[in-house]
Amino acid sequence: MKSDQISKTAAFLAIKFYGLTRIPAFRNLFDDSVITFYDRMVAHLPAPLCYYHYWLKFSWIRKLYLWSEELLLPGDLLHVIARKWYIRQQIASHKKEGYEQIIVLGAGFDDLSYSFAQKGWDCFEIDVPKMADYKRDFLNRCYSTNKIPDVLGCYLTNSNPHLPFKESAIDPHKKTIIVAEGFFDYVTTDLTKQILSQINQYFEPAPLLITTHFALDELPAHHRWTFEIGVKSVGEQLQLHKSIDAFRNLLSEHDFNIEKQYDRASVSSELQLHTGTSLSVLKGFYVLVARQLQQVT
Ligand SMILES: C[S@@+](CC[C@H](N)C(=O)[O-])C[C@H]1O[C@@H](n2cnc3c(N)ncnc32)[C@H](O)[C@@H]1O
Repeated sequence: MKSDQISKTAAFLAIKFYGLTRIPAFRNLFDDSVITFYDRMVAHLPAPLCYYHYWLKFSWIRKLYLWSEELLLPGDLLHVIARKWYIRQQIASHKKEGYEQIIVLGAGFDDLSYSFAQKGWDCFEIDVPKMADYKRDFLNRCYSTNKIPDVLGCYLTNSNPHLPFKESAIDPHKKTIIVAEGFFDYVTTDLTKQILSQINQYFEPAPLLITTHFALDELPAHHRWTFEIGVKSVGEQLQLHKSIDAFRNLLSEHDFNIEKQYDRASVSSELQLHTGTSLSVLKGFYVLVARQLQQVT
């Protein structure tokens, strides 16, 4: 990932979500405002990505897309619905504990911080400068009369891992949820450690972390290859390469206590129950909710 690059992996997540939520069973899992957000976002993507907005309106194109995706990387499509659904449920369920601030790392074209800003949360997004400029412009154009999140441009690297917390209106004393949806997979272990340490040191009270994880070792070799090549072909790279146990250890080493872990089996069966779909979720996909242990001073 480069600082002056539009993230195609982020764009395809928006496109897949938009395509899938043309199907009523998936659409019904989300508020109408979320559906409208992706409708607008996909229409605003740079060409040729925005062409999906038109083509995915046709059910035969969606069927073809679904068939080819399931052939190449089974479960990839449903995992998009799963992560968007689980993460917003988790955030909403923590409101009663007094959480009021959300920071989304590597927010891409996601609606999360915009949607929760409408519900009264203080919301911030961090992404590379090019993506942040794009998102800010989109929000100002399409939602100029609404409360919009602060979108912070920052390209994190091993040699420059500094999160722009201090330079922003992020309040270290508010109860905060950090969301890392499809983010840590794209940065190195070293950078992940540096990011976790900064989160660790900055907030008091201690924040909650909601993160996804891909344990690539759980995928059959040919699906793993498809996944990695797919990401590389759009100029990005999966870098974390950790089993779920190794990822859990990494969080624990940084004082994050894992409270909940959803794996593909539980996620698949819950989504199948709610939507009647026969699709299942990508092997190796997890959503984790971790709470930083309170520092004793
Ligand atoms: C796979 S996309 C996920 C987008 C979004 N969270 C979602 O789930 O729809 C990864 C995002 O992380 C951002 N990202 C990747 N590497 C980054 C880095 N080194 N610094 C800042 N952002 C980065 C990309 O620009 C991209 O928007």
